[in-house]
Amino acid sequence: MKIFQRNSPFSNIVMSILLTLSCMIILTTPPQVSAKTLTQSPDHDLSYFESAMVTLGKPALESKNHSSSSGQKKSLVPSFNTDCSVWSRACSEEILKIAKKPENVKWVKSIRRRIHENPELAFEEHETSRVIRRELDELDIRYRFPLAKTGIRAMVGTGKSPFVAIRADMDALPIQEAVEWDNKSKNAGKMHACGHDAHVAMLLGAARILKAREHYLKGTVALLFQPAEEAGNGAKRMIREGALEDVEAIFAVHISHLLPTAVIGSRSGPLLAGCGFFKAVITSEWGVGGNLHQSGNPILAASAAVISLQGIVSRESNPLDSQVVSVTFLNSGDDHDAIPKGVEFGGTLRAFANTSFHHLLKRIEEVIVSQAKVYKCSATVDFFENADTIYPPMVNDEQMYEHVKRATVDLVGPTNFRVVQPVMGAEDFSFYSEVIPAAFFYIGIKNETLGSVHSPHSPHFMIDEDALPIGAATHAAIAERYLHERDISINGLPDISINGFNQD
Ligand SMILES: *[C@@H]1O[C@H](CO)[C@@H](O)[C@H](O)[C@H]1NC(C)=O
Ligand SMILES: *[C@@H]1O[C@H](CO)[C@@H](O)[C@H](O)[C@H]1NC(C)=O
Ligand SMILES: *[C@@H]1O[C@H](CO)[C@@H](O)[C@H](O)[C@H]1NC(C)=O
Ligand SMILES: *[C@@H]1O[C@H](CO)[C@@H](O)[C@H](O)[C@H]1NC(C)=O
Ligand SMILES: [Zn+2]
Ligand SMILES: [Zn+2]
Repeated sequence: MKIFQRNSPFSNIVMSILLTLSCMIILTTPPQVSAKTLTQSPDHDLSYFESAMVTLGKPALESKNHSSSSGQKKSLVPSFNTDCSVWSRACSEEILKIAKKPENVKWVKSIRRRIHENPELAFEEHETSRVIRRELDELDIRYRFPLAKTGIRAMVGTGKSPFVAIRADMDALPIQEAVEWDNKSKNAGKMHACGHDAHVAMLLGAARILKAREHYLKGTVALLFQPAEEAGNGAKRMIREGALEDVEAIFAVHISHLLPTAVIGSRSGPLLAGCGFFKAVITSEWGVGGNLHQSGNPILAASAAVISLQGIVSRESNPLDSQVVSVTFLNSGDDHDAIPKGVEFGGTLRAFANTSFHHLLKRIEEVIVSQAKVYKCSATVDFFENADTIYPPMVNDEQMYEHVKRATVDLVGPTNFRVVQPVMGAEDFSFYSEVIPAAFFYIGIKNETLGSVHSPHSPHFMIDEDALPIGAATHAAIAERYLHERDISINGLPDISINGFNQD
């Protein structure tokens, strides 16, 4: 999650203003999904497909003897007893059981702590990447390395199509950790303050579950460990270096301090804003200082431009399509006697719709250049395109979102899934979503007893680690089930896009 840009010219003071004004992750208390929407089929032992087919008036599939209520015998042998050639809730339950095995819980938490202690910034995730590869080796999982310098593409399954991807980001932030605890960051001035340590742990957790269930996988799961989400657009480079080869859909999770521990949240459509930064330089066409009356005045020009920029959003945008342009710094030197030769100012822009985002870029430049002209000045505007500071909006594909919801509700129950509102943060996961259908979702880490209530990018940020096994299980269920339903749809069984929970 991107809240501010590491290599942007903004000070911490500006950052806190940004957090308050525009970039804060605001998950307004999400509405509970209506009971009707999420009502399970009357017989809880019916699988999703069975219930869908009952709804469609077709005969249910033969019972496979996989019900969890079929006795104590099952729970003594937690996995591999279920025939998951037809997906059922029992398959979700088995995934959850593997995730919740005490040794797996301990393992996933210790990976997160190991990575938390040694945070590494964008494209410097060498040790993090090494820890991941060592675990993949232990699990006997093949991978390609390096992609995008420190990135990894691991693969579990048949090695053949279809391919579905799950992604975790690996980088930390240039923040000094203020939380005193056993596994506090050992790297001065660096911290996993956005939970990417947890993302890595959950993806490795999923790798372990999927490996244990590899014989059920009807295709291949690509596990993408990506560098440089916070700065540098690691996703873009991963794509360039083949991360999405053969992949037809992709999913990723981000921790959320606004959802209670292990609660999953998402929404269809726009989820996170597109985000960009700009810097304008306005210079007098008449040269430096000198005659106060005859030369162009960059101070006046900049002032007029700043006022006009505020007008772009208030006058030109549809209020239902949230947009932000904030000027966050202005610098004209400190000479008391002369008009400066130039003024620099800049700020940030956000928008949810792709078209409005690109429109904003164009208008910001137009407004600044034309206001400068009025005051006999000239202007240049830089959007740092080459420095990779532009992120497109993150828009969830509707079908992929429905898949996340279905898999999650089946796994953790309807009360642990929430529909959330879009937020003004940004994520470079949006680059994947420009290439293939994608869905991004949140997992809660909020626990008031523990004090894990701080927003990402805060030096006080911390997580409730009890979310980790659930996150791992959610990833695994989403991926395994995607391949499953994809396979069934290829083979002419019911169309997987029919959402059984939504049928009357
Ligand atoms: C469940 O399995 C047992 C033993 O394999 C079999 O005898 C029984 O008929 C099965 N029940 C159903 C409902 O298929
Ligand atoms: C966390 O800190 C404790 C106490 O210092 C230490 O024993 C443990 O090895 C650390 N855990 C990890 C995974 O680094
Ligand atoms: C967003 O708009 C830009 C510019 O018009 C275009 O290049 C890009 O492909 C669009 N992205 C999506 C997801 O439509
Ligand atoms: C919060 O954390 C405490 C301490 O670990 C734990 O006892 C409690 O169950 C957690 N609460 C929730 C809602 O997860
Ligand atoms: Zn972040
Ligand atoms: Zn993040």
